[in-house]
Amino acid sequence: MKILVIGGGGREHALCWALAKEAEVFCAPGNAGTAEVATNLPIPQDDFPAIADAVKERGIDLVVVGPEAPLAAGIVDELTARDIRVFGPTKAAAQIEASKAFAKRIMARGTVSTPRSRTFTDEAEALRYVAGHREPLVVKASGLAAGKGAIVCQTRREAEVAVREMFAGKFGDAGREVLVEEYIEGEEVSLLFMTDGIKTCAFPSAQDYKRLGQGDTGPNTGGMGAYAPVSFADEFMIERAVTVIVRPVLVALADSGAPYRGVLYVGLMVTRDLELYVLEFNCRFGDPEAQVVLPAVSTGLAEHMWRIAAGEDWRPVEPTFKAERAVVATVLAARGYPEAPEKGAIIELPDRLPENTLVFHAGTRRDPDGTLRVAGGRVLNAVGMGPDVPKAAQASRYLADLIRFDGKTYRRDIAWRELKRAGAPRG
Ligand code: GLY
Repeated sequence: MKILVIGGGGREHALCWALAKEAEVFCAPGNAGTAEVATNLPIPQDDFPAIADAVKERGIDLVVVGPEAPLAAGIVDELTARDIRVFGPTKAAAQIEASKAFAKRIMARGTVSTPRSRTFTDEAEALRYVAGHREPLVVKASGLAAGKGAIVCQTRREAEVAVREMFAGKFGDAGREVLVEEYIEGEEVSLLFMTDGIKTCAFPSAQDYKRLGQGDTGPNTGGMGAYAPVSFADEFMIERAVTVIVRPVLVALADSGAPYRGVLYVGLMVTRDLELYVLEFNCRFGDPEAQVVLPAVSTGLAEHMWRIAAGEDWRPVEPTFKAERAVVATVLAARGYPEAPEKGAIIELPDRLPENTLVFHAGTRRDPDGTLRVAGGRVLNAVGMGPDVPKAAQASRYLADLIRFDGKTYRRDIAWRELKRAGAPRG
């Protein structure tokens, strides 16, 4: 089978790596890491006609879309219209991520638990609402904001500032519609499911670390690391999430004329009483969650994706996942990330990777002479694996320490919540 992966970040390197076990893989546009396991095609992820032409020319059987932007822009609809098989939701179904207001309406239809919220297109109305509600509050841009559009505000004053900034264009068009949401105390968990719109197959639960700095400090980023599995988000919680969240949402989407196929990412807040509240849905694998759930897949990923894309009879067979494998990814970012990352530094990787580690590239490029350089904000993922999260975290941190480039910025406490639960040192 020939598969084309769309995108060029850490998630796409992890996808190429996992799919290359079973298929010949291409990546558009890819990065220096995808080039090691796939053939990079220099096509931008939003150039759908060029992607379709490449698929036809090379006899590619399946397209797998990594990022949300092409999904929300309708890549699945456009390629499907040209008889190309694509794994991912249509433009209409991708609204579950591209519009938080739409996601709230779908959840209301399916009576899914989610924090109470109101949606505003008028700044003055939003400010009046903030003035009448108790802090903390969460102010969210309704549209796509690269994972940075949700601001937790401890005071009403902070919420007012966030509302004003969003309506002033801080997140561009994504902030033309703004949600003000109640804050729910708890721990966040990411659950990822492959689905054909009816049946589902769960990946191990994961948790990402969004803040730039050690101890969850500093600005929000696209994600500074992740781990899987999360011990309290076990198979029973996942099964409960399927019953009370995923199935009702899939039914509500189909009823609203947007049947869903692909990966559905459920961003959950889990309270102390283990109540589940949906904070967000994403219409694709998470980044960096993909980098920690895909190493737990043994085989069958390509076949699952192909069958779902083809609308064929699909049986979600859980044992294709090595649920017992713990994985931790530490993101190595460039100096200045997330505001103004410095690019161009030379990257030195160890000649031989330590046991139980992997490197997934994100913002990297290779010069014609082979020199590896920083080419983006999040540069590399140092992935550690092991029988439990503390051992996987140790392997990930060891690798992160070994990799060298000027301006390397990373956290040495990814997975600290799980390490605390396990009684292990934080890092
Ligand atoms: N890690 C969060 C996301 O992929 O949106």
